[in-house]
Amino acid sequence: MVSPDTSKSASSNLTILNPVTLEIIENKGVIQISNPPVNALSQAVRAGLSDCISRAIVMDEVEAIVICCTGRTFIAGADIREFGKPPMEPFLPEVIDEIEAAAKPVVVALHGVVLGGGLEVALGGHYRIAHQATKFGLPEVTLGLLPGAGGTQRLPRLVPVEKALEMITSGRQIGAKEAIEIGLIDKITEADDLRIAGLEYAQELIEKRAQVQPISKRSANSAAPQLFETYRNRLAQKARGQIAPQKCIDAIEGAINLPFKEGQAQERALFQKLMQSDQRSALIHAFFAERQVGKLPEIEDVNPLNIATLGVIGGGTMGAGIAVSSLLSGLKVILIERDQDSVDHAINTVSQLLMGSVKRGKLSQESYDKIMAGTFQASTDYAILADVDIVIEAVFESMEVKKEVFSKLDTICKPDAILASNTSYLDINKIAAMTSRPENVIGLHFFSPAHVMKLLEVVIANKTAPNIVASGFALAKKLRKIAVRSGVCDGFIGNRILSHYRKAIDGAVLAGASPFDIDRALVNFGLAMGPFSVSDLAGLDIGWATRKRLAPTRNPREVYAEFSDRLCEQGRFGRKTGHGFYIYKDGKSTPDKEVDEIIAAERSAKSIDARELSDQEIVDRYMAAMINEAARVIDEGIALRPLDVDVTLLNGYGFPRWRGGPMHYADTLGLDKILNDIKKFAKEDNYLWQPAPLLERLVADGKSFSNLNK
Ligand code: 3HC
Ligand code: NAI
Repeated sequence: MVSPDTSKSASSNLTILNPVTLEIIENKGVIQISNPPVNALSQAVRAGLSDCISRAIVMDEVEAIVICCTGRTFIAGADIREFGKPPMEPFLPEVIDEIEAAAKPVVVALHGVVLGGGLEVALGGHYRIAHQATKFGLPEVTLGLLPGAGGTQRLPRLVPVEKALEMITSGRQIGAKEAIEIGLIDKITEADDLRIAGLEYAQELIEKRAQVQPISKRSANSAAPQLFETYRNRLAQKARGQIAPQKCIDAIEGAINLPFKEGQAQERALFQKLMQSDQRSALIHAFFAERQVGKLPEIEDVNPLNIATLGVIGGGTMGAGIAVSSLLSGLKVILIERDQDSVDHAINTVSQLLMGSVKRGKLSQESYDKIMAGTFQASTDYAILADVDIVIEAVFESMEVKKEVFSKLDTICKPDAILASNTSYLDINKIAAMTSRPENVIGLHFFSPAHVMKLLEVVIANKTAPNIVASGFALAKKLRKIAVRSGVCDGFIGNRILSHYRKAIDGAVLAGASPFDIDRALVNFGLAMGPFSVSDLAGLDIGWATRKRLAPTRNPREVYAEFSDRLCEQGRFGRKTGHGFYIYKDGKSTPDKEVDEIIAAERSAKSIDARELSDQEIVDRYMAAMINEAARVIDEGIALRPLDVDVTLLNGYGFPRWRGGPMHYADTLGLDKILNDIKKFAKEDNYLWQPAPLLERLVADGKSFSNLNK
């Protein structure tokens, strides 16, 4: 590939990198974009594209034009960093119109990922050739937007309307094979140099006297009656609360019902409206927060240890999930259980989970067979862990059991092996103290189901060495998870905040709301599941054990809600026992009236007159408690920045992504409103509702949480 064009500035010695260049090669013009890392369509790229295309169009010697990119990918979309700022000319739809209007064939040569505005540029060309491994998608909806540079108008003119609807409303990427089948591209190549492949294709087209074929001049493909209504109804359920998916449908319907220019104008108007929305700002915050969260000064220049073999202690819910996640990422796994029955049970669970991946087409039968024939081993013999690079302990949540396991690991594992615990709440410092190598001990807190959930809290104890921290983050990347740095405290970032807002929600129940009202109000707010459904799923016994553990140190001022303990005393542990807050029967859950009775009895024992709580009050209490405790977690340095809390709640606790996470949500509402809510609720319970000092300081200084993300 040619290197990017450079030119000397007339007024200085500075070398200015020109992100778009035009090179004439015999009878063809090659427009090449070089804007690392992902060739995003910044203002400079748009201006460069417009300049190069207008020059190539008028050059007599140029018979065809090729557009391609240097680096690891074709254009991955608009430059998201420009969103929310004043728009700068030239605008992308006009640049694409200019490309499409060329009177000579324009070939777009694609590789890597062709996303958003990048795919829209490709649709502006007349012919598309792609490397066989290229991925195509319009992910704007995941950022609270719709394709705003003709994508909603050109795609349904090129591919079946339902395919366009599916791609645009889901943001799903497709491969080159599917792209050629649906007519999105014209040719697939195995050649790695797309500039050369594009030039060869252009020459072929010149020789064939191929004509220009602007997509905007075609009429849209026909759509089945009711198709749009079906999608509207489906997405009203699936993408509950989100604006962008519905607007995507409106825009695509415009492609069917309106002439191109009018459809394009409607698309632009809808795009600009979405650009102003809180949902767009929240989703883009989430996008950048997830990329920022791994940027830690303490590991900037630190090399992680190589991890190829992983030991897991305990093959229950979490251990089996961690093993599967690791096996699916190509690691060798040795799992240790306490007796042969448990070994057999663990092998069975791992096998079933892997078979699920085979059925979904994520793992080949051949790879499955290879894993079960040796890449995965399970045993009761700790000695076979002697050479593993890392061990992740996932035994019962008991300090005694964990201490015993770590003492044993310390004597067996090689000196530089990493010893990690998946504990949910326990003190990693105490666990590390059981070994002769506390610098190699770390918390790696996975979320259930561990082979599915994206979040990994990397818990750093007092003596954990930087290269072990770096290794935790590197392992997360290998497992395709998002790692968040956490300090040591009871529950780390996520579970500590959860424990606090659960108390607030239990307080709302004592005040008069039913658990079922609370679940409904919070699901309507956007949570994947209500907190009482979540408890039933996780098992009520887990929270019960924690409450019992913390009982000796509980402050007498704490208003302690007992109704969950009453359920546990009756053996009602949630889903796994068929009863919890809900009754589980025939795959359905129904609210249990007996739960209301247990709560009513507690209210009367505590002389509380039940009152009605509105859905808004339920949400306000839930959010204020979450934000208040998160502010403490940040102030104490347990979480590094507010964005770390947002990423934790978004990826581990089902917080609605389109609200950006609790700290972003707090900024959107205004921190003074949150502080006022806390003061209002404190009139009922002034122990639970004590304003966090950080929140008070930010309000006094007129600042927001985002100021602390810098
Ligand atoms: N704009 C600006 N920066 C971008 C960007 C974009 N569209 N896409 C990625 N980046 C940046 C990232 O922030 C990151 O920066 P950093 O190194 O400073 O943290 C860097 O590029 C590399 O990104 P990743 O770490 O995500 O690298 P991966 O290799 O894991 O993934 C990717 C690459 C698949 C391109 C992924 O970054 C991605 O999905 N990007 C967003 C794509 C997208 O949503 N495009 C649509 C934009 S909206 C649009 O086009 C509107 C149009 O219709 C008008
Ligand atoms: P589990 O009860 O399903 O599994 C624990 C397993 O450990 C059992 O199979 C048991 O036989 C085995 N075990 C016990 N002592 C052992 C020993 N000395 N040597 C080898 N194996 C031994 O428990 P679960 O839910 O998997 O939890 C494990 C750990 O993960 C706990 O610390 C828990 O707090 C934590 N965790 C649990 C989550 C969940 O949602 N279940 C989420 C995140 C963390």
